[in-house]
Amino acid sequence: MDSNNVTVIGLQWGDEGKGKVVDAIARTSRYVARYCGGANAGHTVVVDGETFALHLIPCGILHENVLNILGNGVAFDPAVFVEELAALHCRGVRAEAENLRVSTTANVVMPWHKLQDRLSETSLGNSRIGTTARGIGPCYSDKANRSTAVRAGDLVQAETLGEKIDRIVGIRNKTFAALYGAEPMDPAAIFDEYAAYGETIAPMLGNTGQILRDGIAAGQRVLFEGGQGSMLDIDHGTFPFVTSSSVTACGVPAGTGIPPSQVGTIIGLIKAYTTRVGAGPFPTEQDNEIGDSLRERGREYGTTTGRPRRCGWFDAFATRYAADISGVNELALSLLDVLSGLDELYICTGYKCDGKTLGAFDPAVMDAVQCEYDTASGWSEDISNCRTFDDLPDAAKAYVDRIETLLERPVGLISVGPDRLQTIVHHTQVEDLK
Ligand code: GDP
Ligand code: IMO
Ligand code: MG
Repeated sequence: MDSNNVTVIGLQWGDEGKGKVVDAIARTSRYVARYCGGANAGHTVVVDGETFALHLIPCGILHENVLNILGNGVAFDPAVFVEELAALHCRGVRAEAENLRVSTTANVVMPWHKLQDRLSETSLGNSRIGTTARGIGPCYSDKANRSTAVRAGDLVQAETLGEKIDRIVGIRNKTFAALYGAEPMDPAAIFDEYAAYGETIAPMLGNTGQILRDGIAAGQRVLFEGGQGSMLDIDHGTFPFVTSSSVTACGVPAGTGIPPSQVGTIIGLIKAYTTRVGAGPFPTEQDNEIGDSLRERGREYGTTTGRPRRCGWFDAFATRYAADISGVNELALSLLDVLSGLDELYICTGYKCDGKTLGAFDPAVMDAVQCEYDTASGWSEDISNCRTFDDLPDAAKAYVDRIETLLERPVGLISVGPDRLQTIVHHTQVEDLK
């Protein structure tokens, strides 16, 4: 690997514990950059018993020497951003232009995007996607539409911002009234609010692609912080029950402005079981007491919306597919402690469709498949205090080994609790983590 950089992505449906692993690697990184999604993400970092839940601001913000970047691929919500800034300041965390930058070309989540997200979901009834209502889909739609997009740089150009808001609100007021009978939005009030955000954000706006390319040229490490999970990817996930951006490692170059050769070591995060929030297929789901028990043990309630997460067994067939799409170099296995106390564990190794075993994974047919399972022995011991692989009970070691075999990749790190310290360094190739 000729790049010193690291990319951390989720291989399931999000919430794999990316925040914790990003925090661990940020210690030895100069930059931490988000490249996809927006405030639909909720990344948790626990430091000395203190919990930080970050939505837009990269998890590197908790480290002194890190310059945090919101890349051009992020759906930038200035309202959430300034709220998050204020919350960090209240807790004594530095977050200012010196350690936090926003791409001038990131697309802005405007109030009409959030309104459209809610109205559209309500009107879909039982066919709803179950979005986070953060306006993500409508914001990326406008990015693709171009003429109705607002970019972060526009927030500091009063004339452009005013013109865009007047024009777009004019269009949206008509369509929302016709489609949903919605009340009109007031362009003047929106202008005042967003121009004020522009003033706060102005010193942080910049050409973040250039900053990253310069840093890489100077030999500094960039850590790319994935959002969501690969099965939620707009192209490779369980469409249409996905998010609206490229969340795999393939999204990193486009979402930040670095060359593909610079994504570096790709770490694929996997939870020791599976969770999903929102609608869509989930073959290993346990909509029963096993799922309920995983939810309670793992405190599986959304970091962003508080919704209970759907829970099920680990799906090696789906995660193998996700790892292959991104060319994952190593895995990080999280929440292994949550499985303590279960007598028997199930790992999905393949799917059957119409009575036939599927040769290759296909997200389009996930609705109609039955899982083929391997069983594994559980363990009763609390493993949250284990700090080396040897400390783990034999059955937990065997579970990790089985995942390495099925996904044909080493497990670099094992997480046995939410705290920074509850981490076992296993087969990682990332030098400073060894
Ligand atoms: P992310 O979106 O991938 O960053 O994950 P979230 O923060 O949304 O959800 C992961 C949750 O699991 C958070 O509450 C973390 O504090 C917690 N967590 C992370 N790693 C572990 C672990 O190894 N064990 C346990 N019990 N909790 C963990
Ligand atoms: P992190 O980064 C879990 C899901 C939503 C919904 C679908 C589309 O914390 O892992 P959207 O609001 O993006 O249009 O919703 O995607 N979703 C997530 N699920 N973790 C996330 O982020 C998610 N971001 C979006 O629940 O099913
Ligand atoms: Mg999350």
